[in-house]
Amino acid sequence: VHSLYLARHGQTEFNVQGRIGGDPPLTALGRSQAEALARHLRDHRIDWVFTSTRFRSHETAAPLLTERPGAHVMALKEFDEIWAGDCEGMLYSEIRRRMPEVTAGRNADKYGYAYPNGESYAILRERVQRGLRRALFLAGDAPLLIVGHQAINRVLLSLFLRQRSEDVPYIHIPQNQYYHISLTPSRKVFERIPYERTA
Ligand code: G3H
Repeated sequence: VHSLYLARHGQTEFNVQGRIGGDPPLTALGRSQAEALARHLRDHRIDWVFTSTRFRSHETAAPLLTERPGAHVMALKEFDEIWAGDCEGMLYSEIRRRMPEVTAGRNADKYGYAYPNGESYAILRERVQRGLRRALFLAGDAPLLIVGHQAINRVLLSLFLRQRSEDVPYIHIPQNQYYHISLTPSRKVFERIPYERTA
């Protein structure tokens, strides 16, 4: 691969509320972010688009795909957001109140802590790595875009950046910017490109 674009899905109602997991649709702002992403990438060659199996990821990729009828599209469950187990669909504030041990566990070791009946970043890394291998195998040398999620994109970036694991769960993944990673045999270039202001 020479060129990999990495975007996060646009804003959802859950993002606004501070609620995790689930399968919420985009808000009006989220849809306009998806349109802006498509506009911004209009002149870039992208032959493969990988999404997760979540609605918000599909919705974010949709405007871009409308303009690229020839692009290959594939939903990979390996790119589904970190599974919060018993905490799926809860508010962060609710977790703090009703399951303080979860908040404490994550504060102490956010990378290694697994949600009850759910995943940690450390576990997530394995499947994201599997997903990336599949995506790179399929795309070959062709430019690709992954429309992922906050935790997924943190892990994906870390696979290229070789971050210290304890820093990975804190990498900034905005919903109005995408990353572009270009690789040549001698250089690896990262850019973070804004495509729309936030609300
Ligand atoms: O729903 C999950 C979040 O996008 C992951 O973020 O690990 O910072 O809670 P967090």
